[in-house]
Amino acid sequence: MKEFKFTQAHKEKFEEDGFLALEGFLSETECDKLRGECMKIVDEMNPEEHNTVFSTDKHEQMESNYLLTSNDKIRFFWEKEALDENGKLCLPKHQALNKMGHALHILSDPFREVTFSEKMQSIFKALDFVKPAIPQSMYIFKPAKIGGEVNRHIDATFLYSDPLKLVGVWLALEDATLNNGCMWFVPGSHKQCDVTYRMVMNPVEGARPATVFEGNMKHHDFDDYKAVPVKKGTLVLIHGMVHHRSNRNTSESSRNIYTFHVTETNDSKWSERNWLQPANGTKFPLLYEDSNATS
Ligand code: FE2
Repeated sequence: MKEFKFTQAHKEKFEEDGFLALEGFLSETECDKLRGECMKIVDEMNPEEHNTVFSTDKHEQMESNYLLTSNDKIRFFWEKEALDENGKLCLPKHQALNKMGHALHILSDPFREVTFSEKMQSIFKALDFVKPAIPQSMYIFKPAKIGGEVNRHIDATFLYSDPLKLVGVWLALEDATLNNGCMWFVPGSHKQCDVTYRMVMNPVEGARPATVFEGNMKHHDFDDYKAVPVKKGTLVLIHGMVHHRSNRNTSESSRNIYTFHVTETNDSKWSERNWLQPANGTKFPLLYEDSNATS
């Protein structure tokens, strides 16, 4: 595999557009290793043990608890269309998952190796991150035929720090095409945007729902979005304030990706109101040190 180098031109393009696709960041072999690890995790998962999200009358409450305590675990979230009207799984588990998260980068060796690799570190050093930490990671399945749409949003709505310095890493483990739900971005939208809309913990402790939205979002027209289809192995950098979305996947091909976020912890404070917090007694792992290091 050719050597990876993040150039000044890459940096300038990312700062201009708010996103950047770097083709060939992962080799075919590296992509297949991550997909294989994912399949192994799903093989070993018993859907019955994750059926709290299936229950009907307490659906929202159970789902909230399940999500909110997933910070140091690998948990499984189903596509809506994979559940019948009684909340029962009605498809084979491998074809039914929307995502799993949020600690793959901590708990799985193959995912940890890619996340903390030297070539990954080199990108964030070039982007002037001083003490970057990784609050979360996810495997997004976007399964064939039923992969759900992701509505227009910015990531800072969900993962806020003050001042904000947040970049998403999005790694295509299969080709992402116009048919299977590739990403769409509004180029330059990160420059026009303040974080006026946030998902925060419900200020009333113990109340349901556990998280609420505050403020208003000013969305761009759909016409402003540009499709960014990419090949397997491409890394896409996503500025925390760039507007993006993806369509439903109604095609015959899945669109698996691995994604995580990087937040600056030097002179930037992670919001205590974010739904995602470090597990008790721990801190988010730092990108530039070994995986045991903490911020
Ligand atoms: Fe996003």
